[in-house]
Amino acid sequence: MFPCALNEAARFWMKHCTSRRAFSTLRSRFVLGIETSCDETGAAVLDETGVIWGESLYSQKKTHLDAGGIIPTVAQRLHRENISRVVQEALDRSGIEPSELTAVATTVKPGLALSLGVGLDFSLKFVRLHEKPFIPIHHMEAHALTVRMLHPVDFPFLVLLVSGGHSLLALAKGIDEFLLLGQTLDVAAGDTLDKIARRLSLRNHPECSTLSGGQAIELLAKEGDRLAFHFKSPMGQLYDCNFSFAGLRNQVTMAINKKEREEGVEKGQLLSCVKDIAAASQHTVASHIAKRTHRAILFCKSKGLLPQHNPTLVVSGGVASNEYIRQTLKIVTDATGLHLLCPPTKFCTDNGVMIAWNGIERLKQRKGIMSYTEEVNYEPKAPLGLDITSEVKDAAIKLPPLKLRINS
Ligand code: KG4
Ligand code: ZN
Repeated sequence: MFPCALNEAARFWMKHCTSRRAFSTLRSRFVLGIETSCDETGAAVLDETGVIWGESLYSQKKTHLDAGGIIPTVAQRLHRENISRVVQEALDRSGIEPSELTAVATTVKPGLALSLGVGLDFSLKFVRLHEKPFIPIHHMEAHALTVRMLHPVDFPFLVLLVSGGHSLLALAKGIDEFLLLGQTLDVAAGDTLDKIARRLSLRNHPECSTLSGGQAIELLAKEGDRLAFHFKSPMGQLYDCNFSFAGLRNQVTMAINKKEREEGVEKGQLLSCVKDIAAASQHTVASHIAKRTHRAILFCKSKGLLPQHNPTLVVSGGVASNEYIRQTLKIVTDATGLHLLCPPTKFCTDNGVMIAWNGIERLKQRKGIMSYTEEVNYEPKAPLGLDITSEVKDAAIKLPPLKLRINS
């Protein structure tokens, strides 16, 4: 049975059982998930049907927004200050004792070394103290699989992961089996939006002071004219599925410099055309992502890599919560006959739930569960799956015309 169907049954029982604890004894497998790969300290307890029994999340976003970017030593300090509380909160909310856990799953790759180290140190002490098996988790695998907690998505499916640290396209063939079709050659989509937002001083915009760069751009773009600026779509002449955002950032920076000179605007002040720049930047990011995804779909189809019945594109990562980008991708999936699935925003950004769910998937398939943890280490850089990006490039698939026009 699929997790979501089981979820329904589990929720029914949870509602109607006189005691949640009594129910917990019926369902015996629980995983505690811990996430600290970047700037969120997250923990959650899930059962094997995907029911979230307890969760807690501490976001460092505000501190990093104030500082103008993530300073790894600050991220490390904040993870250290919060991890015990966050894990305890998730456990308390779940009503599950550490002794009742089946295993602990923790992100060990990829991510910021200093951040990963905090989660791993904490987890190793925890599993040794409570004598529990440990499941090391690949952060991007976790993003890719989260959707299966919510929908019955069978392998293989195509997955687009767009976050602050990553932009990649892969074919998910199994819980730990991925074919990498394309990845960013320089910076990630989210990082680019964050830097554009910072350059535009959107922190000083009354509606954006608490938002991440991507969220601020999305909000302002709603009232902007994307045609007021023209930014060239990256890598138009390269027929692969890789991404590049550095050139776009340069184009936007040059446009901002020019406008600042024209308007006599000082550093930190807002330009009159911030909304237009936000809209044009967002559109260029969206169309670049959509074009690479379109090519990945055609490549997979030409190689028979996607199922005939209900082929699916899963989109996740922080940038996937952007509605404009989702709508642009919908144009591509409608044109190619794919089903588009995006987890709700709360599950697109980093959290402990996705790590616990990955632990559950591994537990069910008995993959990567460790009883002996002496050898475990974190890996700041870790590719996702088997890299076939050069095969995709060699196929040199030209895209048929497709209008990526969204009515805002
Ligand atoms: O997945 P995530 O929480 O952390 C990483 O693993 O990177 O993604 C965070 C990124 C940030 O760059 C943020 O600006 C971006 O996701 N983001 C968005 C939106 N919400 C968050 N980008 C575009 N539109 C949004 N609505
Ligand atoms: Zn992430």
